[in-house]
Amino acid sequence: MKFEKNILCIGAGYVGGPTMAVMAQKCPHYRVTLVDINPARIAQWNSDDLPIYEPGLDEIVKETRSRNLSFSTDIEGGIREADIIFVSVNTPTKDYGIGAGMAADLQYWERTARQILEFSESPKIVVEKSTLPVKTAQAMERILTSTNNGIRFDVLSNPEFLSEGTAIADLQEPDRVLIGSMETESGLKARDVLVEIYANWVPRERIITTNIWSSELSKLVANAFLAQRVSSINSISALCEKTGADIIEVATAVGMDSRIGNKFLNASVGFGGSCFKKDILNLVYLCRSYALHEVADYWESVIKINQYQQERFVFKTLNAMFNTLSGKKICLFGFAFKANTGDTRESPAIFIAKRLLEEKTEVVISDPKALKNAREDLKCMDGKISYIEDPYRAVDGCHAIAVMTEWDLYRNLDFEKIYHFMTKPAFVFDGRNILDHNKLYTIGFNVFPIGKPCMTYL
Ligand code: UDX
Ligand code: ADP
Repeated sequence: MKFEKNILCIGAGYVGGPTMAVMAQKCPHYRVTLVDINPARIAQWNSDDLPIYEPGLDEIVKETRSRNLSFSTDIEGGIREADIIFVSVNTPTKDYGIGAGMAADLQYWERTARQILEFSESPKIVVEKSTLPVKTAQAMERILTSTNNGIRFDVLSNPEFLSEGTAIADLQEPDRVLIGSMETESGLKARDVLVEIYANWVPRERIITTNIWSSELSKLVANAFLAQRVSSINSISALCEKTGADIIEVATAVGMDSRIGNKFLNASVGFGGSCFKKDILNLVYLCRSYALHEVADYWESVIKINQYQQERFVFKTLNAMFNTLSGKKICLFGFAFKANTGDTRESPAIFIAKRLLEEKTEVVISDPKALKNAREDLKCMDGKISYIEDPYRAVDGCHAIAVMTEWDLYRNLDFEKIYHFMTKPAFVFDGRNILDHNKLYTIGFNVFPIGKPCMTYL
């Protein structure tokens, strides 16, 4: 079959994989290829055991893989044949040199730009999908035009706003698609090509176009605003615990103001995920590099509150359990950074598990999808750690349960049975406020929610 366009995506991760799968599903007339430097990852994409868990993804990959979606390690061939190249390689926070711990590490991304330059034989539209600091497109364009080889490259910014766990729905019916371009004749032409691709399934009024810097910045700002909401409600949860107010009642009352809105107001043990912290650090670094120190401090405080919330959780646990956790056994319900994903990047559970191990606690980790990643995250830690998926087996002999992830399965467990398996006095620290606290208290648990009065027999 002759395809209308050849679309390539470099980087087959949490962003590239689902994004291209949905594009292939919605555009059967395009050939979509994903390439990655990691052969093990590509082999998994070509198997029945995909490298990431995302509800609905398996079905779409099965439907499209034999039709117009393929996964390969042939980056060179992929670049040569592509008309449009999406770049979604990882851009972690730099952990060395200038900007360590703050700036984005652009080494993977720059390597990709150089590969595109080396292997291209025809004009390309290069689309930034990875979150990148503002003005990265300019650097990309400079690299691509550095040899004057006569090939035309147009760089667009098209940040991805999908949220893990709901990625497929977010991609199929996005709130908006944002496309930033240079405001030159050829930049605008390239932009229109990308608009046409999305118009295959996204209503035109939801496809917005901006200048390239606005687009790059909007992605950082959207994540910063979302994280700020979580830190705002989490900061108030600390006040609620001191005063006897109930964070759920406060969030409901506040969220009913239509100007504020009721989403993203769930107090928790803290936010995680690969984006929030990294993007805010990026924003902070950017502000500092423009000497906007007050602005930088303001956004940095969102991260500080998130760290404080996690510290507070450990302190509360220690304090409630008679100021010693040594030799006690605590089961973490959930390890993923949120429900419906196996992703554990920046998960508060990593921090909590490490701190508990430092207190010489025996830690049992339970999660329906994230145990493999959890083992990897904790592999350097000394101490007693076990990984048990079945929550009923996991709690055996434990002194406490700490809920880390809001998986539905934890809401509907038989807590009478669980109580029976545990060492007494038994504690529940609900880091997500998903359990029925009154019921747990009636059963006999000492219950410590987030931002609500605790219920104890002590
Ligand atoms: C986020 C953005 O939502 C998405 O638009 C962007 O493309 C990538 O970053 P993601 O990291 O997948 O997506 O998850 P998100 O649903 O935003 O949650 C982030 C963290 O905040 C999770 O740890 C979640 O549990 C926590 N959270 C979220 C809360 O603690 N309370 C809330 O009310 C909402
Ligand atoms: P994200 O959440 O942004 O998608 P991931 O880490 O899940 O991040 O995915 C990024 C992918 O990019 C990884 O699979 C990694 O192997 C791949 N990658 C990094 N550098 C390159 C490169 N130069 N060429 C091809 N793939 C790359």
